[in-house]
Amino acid sequence: MTRMLGIETSCDETSASVIDGEGNDVAMKSLVILSQDIHRVFGGVVPEIASRAHLTSIVPVVQRAVNEAALGIEDIDAIAVTSAPGLIGALLVGVCFAKSLAFARGIPVVGVHHMEGHLFATSLEDPDAVPPFTGLLVSGGHTLLVDVEDWGRYRLLGATRDDAAGEAFDKVAKLLGCPYPGGRHIEQLARTGDPSRFRFSRPMVRRNDKPSDADYFAFSFSGLKTAVLNAVRGSADLDGDRAHIARAFQDALVETLVEKTFRAAATCGRSRVVLGGGVACNSALAGEMRQRMAGIGATVFAPSPRLATDNAAMIARAGLFHFEMGERSGLDLNAYANQPIPGLIAA
Ligand code: KG4
Ligand code: ZN
Repeated sequence: MTRMLGIETSCDETSASVIDGEGNDVAMKSLVILSQDIHRVFGGVVPEIASRAHLTSIVPVVQRAVNEAALGIEDIDAIAVTSAPGLIGALLVGVCFAKSLAFARGIPVVGVHHMEGHLFATSLEDPDAVPPFTGLLVSGGHTLLVDVEDWGRYRLLGATRDDAAGEAFDKVAKLLGCPYPGGRHIEQLARTGDPSRFRFSRPMVRRNDKPSDADYFAFSFSGLKTAVLNAVRGSADLDGDRAHIARAFQDALVETLVEKTFRAAATCGRSRVVLGGGVACNSALAGEMRQRMAGIGATVFAPSPRLATDNAAMIARAGLFHFEMGERSGLDLNAYANQPIPGLIAA
Protein backbone atom coordinates (compact mmCIF):
# COMPACT_ATOMS: atom_id res chain seq x y z
CA MET A 1 0.00 0.00 0.00
CA THR A 2 1.29 3.44 -0.93
CA ARG A 3 0.30 6.82 0.51
CA MET A 4 0.60 9.20 -2.42
CA LEU A 5 0.47 12.98 -2.28
CA GLY A 6 -0.75 14.51 -5.54
CA ILE A 7 -0.05 18.09 -6.63
CA GLU A 8 -1.74 19.89 -9.54
CA THR A 9 -0.92 23.44 -10.70
CA SER A 10 -1.16 23.23 -14.50
CA CYS A 11 -3.73 26.02 -14.97
CA ASP A 12 -5.82 28.05 -12.51
CA GLU A 13 -6.45 25.54 -9.72
CA THR A 14 -3.95 24.96 -6.91
CA SER A 15 -4.78 21.49 -5.72
CA ALA A 16 -3.34 18.80 -3.43
CA SER A 17 -4.70 15.41 -2.45
CA VAL A 18 -3.71 12.33 -0.51
CA ILE A 19 -4.78 8.87 -1.68
CA ASP A 20 -3.75 5.45 -0.48
CA GLY A 21 -4.05 1.93 -1.75
CA GLU A 22 -2.69 -0.38 -4.38
CA GLY A 23 -3.71 -1.49 -7.87
CA ASN A 24 -7.31 -0.44 -8.50
CA ASP A 25 -8.12 -0.58 -4.77
CA VAL A 26 -7.53 3.07 -3.94
CA ALA A 27 -9.12 5.42 -1.38
CA MET A 28 -9.13 9.20 -1.60
CA LYS A 29 -8.17 10.51 1.86
CA SER A 30 -8.34 14.22 1.10
CA LEU A 31 -8.76 16.65 -1.77
CA VAL A 32 -8.19 20.41 -1.55
CA ILE A 33 -8.88 22.59 -4.62
CA LEU A 34 -8.25 26.32 -4.51
CA SER A 35 -9.72 27.97 -7.62
CA GLN A 36 -8.12 31.25 -8.63
CA ASP A 37 -11.19 33.45 -9.03
CA ILE A 38 -9.11 36.48 -10.04
CA HIS A 39 -9.06 35.40 -13.72
CA ARG A 40 -12.81 36.02 -14.00
CA VAL A 41 -12.06 39.76 -14.03
CA PHE A 42 -9.99 39.27 -17.21
CA GLY A 43 -12.34 36.84 -18.98
CA GLY A 44 -9.64 34.15 -19.20
CA VAL A 45 -6.59 32.77 -17.41
CA VAL A 46 -3.67 35.22 -17.19
CA PRO A 47 -0.55 33.01 -17.01
CA GLU A 48 1.64 35.34 -14.94
CA ILE A 49 -1.10 35.89 -12.36
CA ALA A 50 -1.76 32.14 -12.24
CA SER A 51 1.93 31.37 -11.47
CA ARG A 52 2.07 33.96 -8.68
CA ALA A 53 -1.19 32.74 -7.16
CA HIS A 54 0.13 29.13 -7.15
CA LEU A 55 3.26 30.36 -5.35
CA THR A 56 1.28 31.89 -2.49
CA SER A 57 -1.18 28.97 -2.22
CA ILE A 58 0.92 25.85 -2.68
CA VAL A 59 2.23 25.49 0.90
CA PRO A 60 -1.12 25.98 2.72
CA VAL A 61 -2.97 23.83 0.15
CA VAL A 62 -0.55 20.90 0.57
CA GLN A 63 -0.53 21.31 4.36
CA ARG A 64 -4.30 21.23 4.43
CA ALA A 65 -4.53 18.14 2.21
CA VAL A 66 -2.15 16.27 4.53
CA ASN A 67 -4.05 17.48 7.65
CA GLU A 68 -7.44 16.54 6.21
CA ALA A 69 -6.10 13.03 5.55
CA ALA A 70 -5.32 12.93 9.32
CA LEU A 71 -1.66 12.40 8.52
CA GLY A 72 1.67 14.15 8.97
CA ILE A 73 4.01 14.89 6.06
CA GLU A 74 6.28 12.08 7.39
CA ASP A 75 3.52 9.56 6.55
CA ILE A 76 3.65 10.31 2.80
CA ASP A 77 5.46 7.60 0.77
CA ALA A 78 5.72 9.36 -2.61
CA ILE A 79 4.67 12.50 -4.49
CA ALA A 80 2.95 12.73 -7.89
CA VAL A 81 2.94 16.08 -9.67
CA THR A 82 1.54 17.36 -12.97
CA SER A 83 4.56 18.05 -15.19
CA ALA A 84 2.74 18.50 -18.55
CA PRO A 85 0.81 19.87 -20.38
CA GLY A 86 -0.26 23.33 -19.19
CA LEU A 87 0.95 26.86 -18.52
CA ILE A 88 4.68 26.54 -18.12
CA GLY A 89 5.05 29.00 -15.22
CA ALA A 90 2.11 27.45 -13.40
CA LEU A 91 3.44 23.89 -13.91
CA LEU A 92 6.89 24.90 -12.68
CA VAL A 93 5.53 25.98 -9.28
CA GLY A 94 4.10 22.49 -8.66
CA VAL A 95 7.10 20.65 -10.13
CA CYS A 96 9.70 22.67 -8.14
CA PHE A 97 7.68 22.37 -4.94
CA ALA A 98 7.19 18.60 -5.37
CA LYS A 99 10.88 18.02 -6.11
CA SER A 100 11.97 20.09 -3.10
CA LEU A 101 9.59 18.30 -0.75
CA ALA A 102 10.61 14.90 -2.12
CA PHE A 103 14.31 15.76 -1.72
CA ALA A 104 13.81 17.08 1.82
CA ARG A 105 11.83 13.98 2.89
CA GLY A 106 13.96 11.50 0.94
CA ILE A 107 10.94 10.11 -0.93
CA PRO A 108 10.35 9.55 -4.68
CA VAL A 109 8.60 11.95 -7.02
CA VAL A 110 6.71 10.95 -10.18
CA GLY A 111 5.81 13.38 -13.00
CA VAL A 112 2.26 12.92 -14.34
CA HIS A 113 0.62 13.93 -17.62
CA HIS A 114 -2.45 16.05 -16.80
CA MET A 115 -4.69 14.35 -19.40
CA GLU A 116 -3.75 10.87 -18.19
CA GLY A 117 -4.89 12.12 -14.78
CA HIS A 118 -8.33 12.97 -16.24
CA LEU A 119 -8.58 9.36 -17.53
CA PHE A 120 -8.09 8.02 -13.98
CA ALA A 121 -10.41 10.50 -12.20
CA THR A 122 -13.69 8.58 -12.40
CA SER A 123 -12.11 5.38 -11.06
CA LEU A 124 -11.60 7.15 -7.72
CA GLU A 125 -15.40 7.22 -7.32
CA ASP A 126 -16.46 4.15 -9.18
CA PRO A 127 -14.44 0.91 -8.98
CA ASP A 128 -15.95 -0.21 -12.31
CA ALA A 129 -14.59 2.78 -14.28
CA VAL A 130 -11.44 0.83 -15.13
CA PRO A 131 -10.01 -0.57 -18.40
CA PRO A 132 -10.85 -1.76 -20.89
CA PHE A 133 -12.98 1.28 -21.86
CA THR A 134 -13.58 4.00 -24.41
CA GLY A 135 -12.37 7.30 -22.94
CA LEU A 136 -13.66 10.73 -23.93
CA LEU A 137 -11.61 13.60 -22.49
CA VAL A 138 -13.25 16.98 -22.91
CA SER A 139 -11.56 19.91 -21.20
CA GLY A 140 -10.76 23.55 -21.84
CA GLY A 141 -7.62 22.69 -23.80
CA HIS A 142 -8.20 19.17 -25.14
CA THR A 143 -10.75 16.92 -26.84
CA LEU A 144 -9.44 13.37 -27.06
CA LEU A 145 -11.14 10.09 -27.91
CA VAL A 146 -9.03 7.15 -26.75
CA ASP A 147 -9.35 3.42 -26.58
CA VAL A 148 -7.99 2.34 -23.19
CA GLU A 149 -7.02 -1.31 -23.37
CA ASP A 150 -5.31 -1.11 -19.99
CA TRP A 151 -3.87 1.60 -17.75
CA GLY A 152 -0.83 2.94 -19.59
CA ARG A 153 -1.98 1.60 -22.99
CA TYR A 154 -3.87 4.24 -24.90
CA ARG A 155 -4.83 4.26 -28.58
CA LEU A 156 -5.64 7.71 -29.88
CA LEU A 157 -8.74 7.44 -32.09
CA GLY A 158 -9.65 11.08 -32.53
CA ALA A 159 -8.86 14.62 -31.42
CA THR A 160 -10.08 18.09 -32.25
CA ARG A 161 -8.76 19.70 -35.40
CA ASP A 162 -9.23 23.21 -33.94
CA ASP A 163 -11.00 24.32 -30.74
CA ALA A 164 -11.40 22.04 -27.73
CA ALA A 165 -14.96 21.32 -26.54
CA GLY A 166 -14.53 23.40 -23.36
CA GLU A 167 -12.97 26.21 -25.36
CA ALA A 168 -16.04 26.23 -27.64
CA PHE A 169 -18.30 26.44 -24.57
CA ASP A 170 -16.21 29.33 -23.20
CA LYS A 171 -16.16 31.25 -26.50
CA VAL A 172 -19.90 30.82 -27.07
CA ALA A 173 -20.51 31.90 -23.47
CA LYS A 174 -18.57 35.08 -24.19
CA LEU A 175 -20.66 35.71 -27.35
CA LEU A 176 -23.81 35.31 -25.27
CA GLY A 177 -22.54 37.60 -22.51
CA CYS A 178 -21.89 34.96 -19.82
CA PRO A 179 -18.94 35.13 -17.39
CA TYR A 180 -15.76 33.01 -17.71
CA PRO A 181 -15.49 30.03 -17.56
CA GLY A 182 -18.75 29.74 -19.44
CA GLY A 183 -19.53 26.01 -19.68
CA ARG A 184 -21.86 25.79 -16.71
CA HIS A 185 -23.58 29.08 -17.63
CA ILE A 186 -24.34 27.75 -21.12
CA GLU A 187 -25.69 24.54 -19.59
CA GLN A 188 -27.95 26.58 -17.31
CA LEU A 189 -29.14 28.86 -20.14
CA ALA A 190 -29.77 25.88 -22.43
CA ARG A 191 -32.19 24.36 -19.89
CA THR A 192 -34.78 27.02 -20.68
CA GLY A 193 -34.02 27.10 -24.42
CA ASP A 194 -36.43 25.82 -27.07
CA PRO A 195 -34.53 23.19 -29.13
CA SER A 196 -36.56 23.90 -32.27
CA ARG A 197 -35.81 27.65 -32.55
CA PHE A 198 -32.23 27.34 -33.91
CA ARG A 199 -30.33 24.44 -35.43
CA PHE A 200 -26.60 24.19 -36.08
CA SER A 201 -25.11 21.42 -38.20
CA ARG A 202 -23.16 18.66 -36.44
CA PRO A 203 -19.48 19.10 -37.34
CA MET A 204 -17.82 16.12 -39.05
CA VAL A 205 -20.93 13.95 -38.77
CA ARG A 206 -22.45 12.78 -42.06
CA ARG A 207 -24.96 10.04 -42.68
CA ASN A 208 -22.67 7.95 -44.91
CA ASP A 209 -19.45 8.24 -42.83
CA LYS A 210 -17.23 5.16 -42.97
CA PRO A 211 -14.62 3.99 -40.40
CA SER A 212 -11.94 4.39 -43.09
CA ASP A 213 -12.66 8.15 -43.33
CA ALA A 214 -9.84 10.27 -41.88
CA ASP A 215 -12.30 12.27 -39.77
CA TYR A 216 -14.51 9.36 -38.64
CA PHE A 217 -13.47 9.87 -35.00
CA ALA A 218 -12.22 13.48 -35.31
CA PHE A 219 -13.77 16.67 -33.95
CA SER A 220 -13.96 20.28 -35.12
CA PHE A 221 -15.76 23.01 -33.21
CA SER A 222 -14.60 26.29 -34.72
CA GLY A 223 -17.29 26.21 -37.47
CA LEU A 224 -19.97 25.67 -34.82
CA LYS A 225 -18.63 28.70 -32.94
CA THR A 226 -18.89 30.79 -36.15
CA ALA A 227 -22.45 29.54 -36.70
CA VAL A 228 -23.30 30.77 -33.20
CA LEU A 229 -21.65 34.13 -33.96
CA ASN A 230 -23.78 34.48 -37.10
CA ALA A 231 -26.93 33.59 -35.17
CA VAL A 232 -26.06 36.21 -32.52
CA ARG A 233 -25.42 38.85 -35.19
CA GLY A 234 -28.60 37.94 -37.06
CA SER A 235 -30.85 38.01 -34.02
CA ALA A 236 -33.31 40.90 -33.76
CA ASP A 237 -34.00 40.05 -30.11
CA LEU A 238 -30.82 38.66 -28.56
CA ASP A 239 -32.18 38.79 -25.01
CA GLY A 240 -35.07 36.63 -26.08
CA ASP A 241 -32.93 34.31 -28.24
CA ARG A 242 -29.99 33.80 -25.86
CA ALA A 243 -31.32 30.63 -24.23
CA HIS A 244 -32.47 29.15 -27.57
CA ILE A 245 -29.04 29.74 -29.14
CA ALA A 246 -27.31 28.21 -26.10
CA ARG A 247 -29.59 25.18 -26.39
CA ALA A 248 -28.94 24.73 -30.13
CA PHE A 249 -25.18 25.04 -29.59
CA GLN A 250 -25.14 22.54 -26.72
CA ASP A 251 -27.35 20.11 -28.66
CA ALA A 252 -24.99 20.21 -31.68
CA LEU A 253 -21.83 19.83 -29.61
CA VAL A 254 -23.23 17.08 -27.38
CA GLU A 255 -24.64 15.12 -30.33
CA THR A 256 -21.24 15.24 -32.03
CA LEU A 257 -19.40 14.04 -28.91
CA VAL A 258 -21.96 11.27 -28.39
CA GLU A 259 -21.86 10.11 -32.04
CA LYS A 260 -18.04 9.90 -32.16
CA THR A 261 -17.85 8.14 -28.79
CA PHE A 262 -20.55 5.69 -29.91
CA ARG A 263 -18.53 4.93 -33.05
CA ALA A 264 -15.42 4.34 -30.92
CA ALA A 265 -17.14 2.03 -28.41
CA ALA A 266 -18.89 0.09 -31.20
CA THR A 267 -15.75 -0.23 -33.35
CA CYS A 268 -13.53 -1.32 -30.43
CA GLY A 269 -16.22 -3.53 -28.86
CA ARG A 270 -16.06 -1.79 -25.47
CA SER A 271 -18.85 -2.11 -22.92
CA ARG A 272 -17.69 0.84 -20.79
CA VAL A 273 -17.39 4.51 -21.62
CA VAL A 274 -15.52 6.81 -19.23
CA LEU A 275 -15.84 10.59 -19.44
CA GLY A 276 -13.28 13.05 -18.10
CA GLY A 277 -12.42 16.76 -18.09
CA GLY A 278 -14.45 19.85 -17.18
CA VAL A 279 -17.07 19.41 -19.93
CA ALA A 280 -17.92 16.01 -18.38
CA CYS A 281 -19.74 18.11 -15.70
CA ASN A 282 -22.38 18.80 -18.36
CA SER A 283 -25.44 16.72 -17.45
CA ALA A 284 -26.88 16.90 -20.98
CA LEU A 285 -23.68 15.23 -22.24
CA ALA A 286 -23.79 12.46 -19.62
CA GLY A 287 -27.54 11.96 -20.15
CA GLU A 288 -27.39 11.76 -23.95
CA MET A 289 -24.32 9.52 -23.77
CA ARG A 290 -26.10 7.08 -21.42
CA GLN A 291 -29.15 6.93 -23.65
CA ARG A 292 -27.16 6.25 -26.82
CA MET A 293 -24.77 3.71 -25.25
CA ALA A 294 -27.68 1.74 -23.81
CA GLY A 295 -28.34 0.71 -27.43
CA ILE A 296 -25.12 -1.35 -27.46
CA GLY A 297 -25.33 -2.35 -23.79
CA ALA A 298 -22.43 -0.09 -22.78
CA THR A 299 -22.29 1.62 -19.37
CA VAL A 300 -21.29 5.28 -19.09
CA PHE A 301 -19.20 6.51 -16.16
CA ALA A 302 -19.09 10.27 -15.58
CA PRO A 303 -17.09 11.84 -12.75
CA SER A 304 -18.69 14.16 -10.19
CA PRO A 305 -17.93 17.84 -10.94
CA ARG A 306 -15.16 17.96 -8.30
CA LEU A 307 -13.25 15.16 -10.03
CA ALA A 308 -14.20 16.16 -13.60
CA THR A 309 -12.48 19.55 -13.37
CA ASP A 310 -8.82 19.97 -12.52
CA ASN A 311 -7.88 18.28 -9.24
CA ALA A 312 -4.87 16.66 -7.60
CA ALA A 313 -6.59 13.38 -6.67
CA MET A 314 -6.55 12.25 -10.32
CA ILE A 315 -2.85 13.17 -10.52
CA ALA A 316 -2.10 11.14 -7.38
CA ARG A 317 -4.07 8.20 -8.88
CA ALA A 318 -2.24 8.25 -12.23
CA GLY A 319 1.03 8.77 -10.35
CA LEU A 320 0.31 5.72 -8.19
CA PHE A 321 -0.07 3.60 -11.32
CA HIS A 322 3.31 4.73 -12.68
CA PHE A 323 4.91 4.39 -9.24
CA GLU A 324 3.70 0.80 -9.00
CA MET A 325 5.19 0.16 -12.46
CA GLY A 326 8.54 1.14 -10.94
CA GLU A 327 8.75 4.56 -12.56
CA ARG A 328 10.50 7.41 -10.72
CA SER A 329 11.34 10.92 -11.90
CA GLY A 330 14.76 12.33 -11.11
CA LEU A 331 15.37 15.69 -9.49
CA ASP A 332 15.92 16.97 -13.02
CA LEU A 333 12.15 16.52 -13.69
CA ASN A 334 11.06 19.47 -15.82
CA ALA A 335 7.72 21.00 -16.86
CA TYR A 336 6.49 20.98 -20.48
CA ALA A 337 3.72 23.08 -22.00
CA ASN A 338 3.00 20.33 -24.55
CA GLN A 339 3.74 16.62 -24.42
CA PRO A 340 1.96 13.49 -25.67
CA ILE A 341 0.31 11.23 -23.07
CA PRO A 342 2.81 8.47 -22.15
CA GLY A 343 1.75 5.15 -23.64
CA LEU A 344 -0.32 6.84 -26.35
CA ILE A 345 -0.14 5.28 -29.79
CA ALA A 346 -1.86 6.52 -32.94
CA ALA A 347 -4.76 4.35 -34.14
O1 KG4 B 1 -10.68 20.03 -17.21
P1 KG4 B 1 -10.88 21.46 -16.90
O2 KG4 B 1 -11.26 21.83 -15.49
O3 KG4 B 1 -9.61 22.31 -17.23
C1 KG4 B 1 -8.76 22.03 -18.29
O4 KG4 B 1 -7.90 21.12 -18.14
O5 KG4 B 1 -8.93 22.72 -19.31
O6 KG4 B 1 -12.00 22.00 -17.93
C2 KG4 B 1 -12.45 23.31 -17.93
C3 KG4 B 1 -13.51 23.46 -19.01
C4 KG4 B 1 -13.92 24.93 -19.25
O7 KG4 B 1 -13.83 25.16 -20.64
C5 KG4 B 1 -15.36 24.98 -18.75
O8 KG4 B 1 -16.17 25.92 -19.44
C6 KG4 B 1 -15.82 23.57 -19.01
O9 KG4 B 1 -14.71 22.77 -18.66
N1 KG4 B 1 -17.01 23.22 -18.21
C7 KG4 B 1 -18.21 22.90 -18.74
C8 KG4 B 1 -19.11 22.69 -17.65
N2 KG4 B 1 -18.39 22.89 -16.50
C9 KG4 B 1 -17.12 23.21 -16.86
N3 KG4 B 1 -18.61 22.77 -20.02
C10 KG4 B 1 -19.90 22.43 -20.25
N4 KG4 B 1 -20.81 22.24 -19.26
C11 KG4 B 1 -20.45 22.34 -17.96
N5 KG4 B 1 -21.37 22.14 -16.99
ZN1 ZN C 1 -7.82 19.53 -17.01
